[in-house]
Amino acid sequence: MKGLILSGGHGTRLRPLTHTGPKQLIPIANKPVLFYAIEDLKNADVTDIGLILGTNMPEKVKEAVGDGSQFGVNITYINQGEPKGLAHAVAVAKDFVGEDPFIMYLGDNILKSGIKEFVDGFEKSDYQARILLQYVENPRQFGVAELDSEGHVMNLVEKPEHPKSNLALVGIYLFKPSIFDAISKIKPSWRDELEITDAIQELLNKDLKVDSHIVKGWWKDTGKPEDVLDANHLILDVLKSQNNGEVEDGTKINGRVYIGEGTIVKKNSVIRGPVIIGENCVIEAYIGPYTSIGDNSTIIGGEIESSIVVGDAVIKCNERIVDSLIGNHSRVESKENSLPKGLRFIVGENSVVYL
Ligand code: TTP
Repeated sequence: MKGLILSGGHGTRLRPLTHTGPKQLIPIANKPVLFYAIEDLKNADVTDIGLILGTNMPEKVKEAVGDGSQFGVNITYINQGEPKGLAHAVAVAKDFVGEDPFIMYLGDNILKSGIKEFVDGFEKSDYQARILLQYVENPRQFGVAELDSEGHVMNLVEKPEHPKSNLALVGIYLFKPSIFDAISKIKPSWRDELEITDAIQELLNKDLKVDSHIVKGWWKDTGKPEDVLDANHLILDVLKSQNNGEVEDGTKINGRVYIGEGTIVKKNSVIRGPVIIGENCVIEAYIGPYTSIGDNSTIIGGEIESSIVVGDAVIKCNERIVDSLIGNHSRVESKENSLPKGLRFIVGENSVVYL
């Protein structure tokens, strides 16, 4: 079994963060979202992984992932170029996949329970595809599957006006190489993309068998800022406390808090977990629940809660920052003596905000 992780795409919904790098490198609890996918594959013993690269600074993905040895996997980079759809991304990986079954994993998706159960038994079965599904409240926004009583897929519809079920497609799929023939038969959709749902529907039209598996636990697609913050909540919910830094006397720490090496939490700070703080940070502030602070950040004064600070940031203010995503190397500073108020930000890399 091979793995195929899609790390291309434009990431328009995550601008301005995606002006300076691919969205798959946005950290969730201080770890790029893409790394969770690689670790899931490794945990399911899938170690031969093709990584699809797009046009948005693919060199940053290569720099972060390298040859895969840090994860115990072998990475082959495959250039897709312009994002012409999920099925197009699969088609460009045909030579890499060869005659093997493979798992396709969207590089901005994150799954609580891993993929071991999903993968089990597929290789030896006569199914040509297996899709992962989750019950959702708003199926109109997703690809939706209709199943028979045994869980076999009868048909798939992308964003249906009248959904026949509440089962939405999660961005993780298993295929046999027959999918390549199906992809060669489909035409671009109204949004000018080769849709993977159309390719799977093509398998069904040819009476090839497709089965399904329903996700246990949560699944998150981190395509929008609020989804990135939600995923951060979900991962921090299982954070373990650890202090590798220095916490001065007179600091209040409640709940689960992880503090990285070389970080100093100065007196009078209040940290209310779950909170993760990376390495070499200086903190003299209130850090509230569900906050991730990346390496080399300085946070002096004010309050920050339910937010992600990517790293190398300087935040010096007496404001309250909530539900915010603050890019790498950003500065957020306030004028002296201004009154505190609640603020929400999406700040791109290398930005400066004066309040
Ligand atoms: P999407 O989130 O559907 O697309 P996008 O990344 O272009 O984002 P936006 O809609 O905000 O512009 O993509 C899902 C995943 O698949 C994501 O990890 C990017 C990846 N992808 C590719 O690798 N190639 C493609 O052609 C497309 C469309 C997506």
